[in-house]
Amino acid sequence: MTDPEPSGVRMPDSTVEADLAGYRREGLIDPPATRDTEPHDGSGRVEMTFLPAERSVRVPPGVTVFDGASWNGIAIDSTCGGHGTCKKCKVQILSGAVPVGRLDARAFTPDQLRDGWRLACIAQATQNLRVHVPPLVTRPKAATVGVGRQVILRPAVQKRYVELDEPTLSDQRTDLARLTDAIDDLELQADLHALRRLPKVLREADYKVTAVVVDEMLIDVEAGDTTARQFGIAFDLGTTTVVATLLDLTTGTPVAVRSMLNRQQPFGGDVITRISATMMDPTALDRLGTAAHETLAELSAEVCAEGEVDPAEVYEIALAGNATMTALALGIDPEPLGVAPFVMTCATPPVVLASALGVSVHPGARAALFPALGAYVGGDIVAGILATGMDRDKRLRLFIDVGTNCEIVLGDGERILSTAAPAGPAFEGGAIRCGMRAAEGAIEVVKLGEDVELGVIGDTTPMGICGSGLVDVVAELVKIGLVDGTGRFVQDNEAKAAAPALADRLTMIGKERVFVLYRPDPTADPADSVYLSQRDIRELQFAKAAIATGWSLLLEEFGVEPRDVQQVLLAGSFGSYLSPAAAVRIGLVPRLPVLRIVSAGNVAGEGAKMALLSLRERAGAAALLEEVRYVELSDRSDFNDKFVDQLSFPT
Ligand code: FES
Repeated sequence: MTDPEPSGVRMPDSTVEADLAGYRREGLIDPPATRDTEPHDGSGRVEMTFLPAERSVRVPPGVTVFDGASWNGIAIDSTCGGHGTCKKCKVQILSGAVPVGRLDARAFTPDQLRDGWRLACIAQATQNLRVHVPPLVTRPKAATVGVGRQVILRPAVQKRYVELDEPTLSDQRTDLARLTDAIDDLELQADLHALRRLPKVLREADYKVTAVVVDEMLIDVEAGDTTARQFGIAFDLGTTTVVATLLDLTTGTPVAVRSMLNRQQPFGGDVITRISATMMDPTALDRLGTAAHETLAELSAEVCAEGEVDPAEVYEIALAGNATMTALALGIDPEPLGVAPFVMTCATPPVVLASALGVSVHPGARAALFPALGAYVGGDIVAGILATGMDRDKRLRLFIDVGTNCEIVLGDGERILSTAAPAGPAFEGGAIRCGMRAAEGAIEVVKLGEDVELGVIGDTTPMGICGSGLVDVVAELVKIGLVDGTGRFVQDNEAKAAAPALADRLTMIGKERVFVLYRPDPTADPADSVYLSQRDIRELQFAKAAIATGWSLLLEEFGVEPRDVQQVLLAGSFGSYLSPAAAVRIGLVPRLPVLRIVSAGNVAGEGAKMALLSLRERAGAAALLEEVRYVELSDRSDFNDKFVDQLSFPT
């Protein structure tokens, strides 16, 4: 296979028009049905197969070959970032038709066009395509982020080093024109900060400068060649924990990661209490906004210090948060999110400067905030869908972000459904007698055999039980027969028969039956021990039934059985630490081989990193608003029956 000349063939406009007319007559512009086409299968998606890698991706009709390749981690040459100006993104359509576009006629000879050569960034797939991708001439870098996702680096931030001619009496172009003329593949505009710096920096640096551009906006000009220094910060703005990752945008690699508790904690542990705070106290909205900004500011200062990066070298931030966290950070009243019919002020937040979120980085740095699918399926879940490739992977996959509000997504790369299930605070340790957050001293792993084996965070004296410990202990108690399928502690005689070594740990504290996990010493008052009560088991049952009802209704809506699920992704700060075997045993996830249940990690943070590293991924997140269908559970007439069915433990 002979690749076309790297430079292509440039033709004058009149020739282009004449050739376009000719191509139209030949059927290259409006391809006839008899051409070697592969129509899509009615699923609403078309398939692009890239050679020689033989990798396929299913995309909505109209997606460009360039995007389809990018989404699949296939690198296509480009220096303009898909803007149609560099003409380096040459590919050959081997089967399926793509009409000749005006830019194609400028980039290729007539013979090349007849052989199927097209510019990938304008070639839209309206039917299945097989596409030959030539080896790279200019190799773009890619980074692996998310759950095994390869993302081709194409950040909104780009730096261009230029050496300009000094002005003369015969060349009195403005400073800005002198700079933008040298970067003619971008339609540059300049912000005021850049204009204020431009005259001084140009002259002090002998007209050898680096232009700092974000989305075609010149935000700064720096002396000399600073192209190697480009950074961004990805934030996962969680209700409980906030994580910041400083990324080197030239390589896609993380430079520093820090996390801390959200400073909004004093207003309440979950979104509802924080929304309530704004309804009861007119100053709370401001104070919650300030607390969010302080959290982001502190983390950004920490990652910059750790990564030895000047905050002024951070030119963009990305932020994924649930709808309430995003609204509060923007100072938008969250009250409508907390009361039926649960309406968001906007699905797609505006582009704001990072400084509007309290983050002190480059003054021209912007903040890219994730859009939300609904009041309870927010930008953090959109980021999670992006990071896990739920919209592209052809396997039937179930994504569960376990928390007070549990978000559930089911998809097979063609259809995606989502819902939210109110699981309550049990998984965060709330409403559990000895419950606590996953912090030092929390029991997070429990094994019951001849004795009780505990895994404690920080390897210290147990102080309480966190969510994963709660799921573990209940799963183990069901397994050894001390708790029956209805969630009830068995009678003493049954306990002695089922687990003689542990039966005496079943005891009474006050009027409540409990299972003692840890007692400081045998003489200590049982009330000072760490234990699991009958009521705690009930709380867990309600929480897991809410989640199981959510995924079972999504499966029903999808028309598939639980056994059809090929992978379950457990996400979120709690879900990621959950034991797959325990999750199966209590019925929190479908009854599947444990190898099909995987921890997805902090997918919201990964999605935020992807948005920073790739404009295409960011566009993919925006497209999810159209692709994901939200299923409201609360108005389902069968919700209560299903919920009751899910309360028991599988036996
Ligand atoms: Fe530059 Fe297509 S990517 S012209």
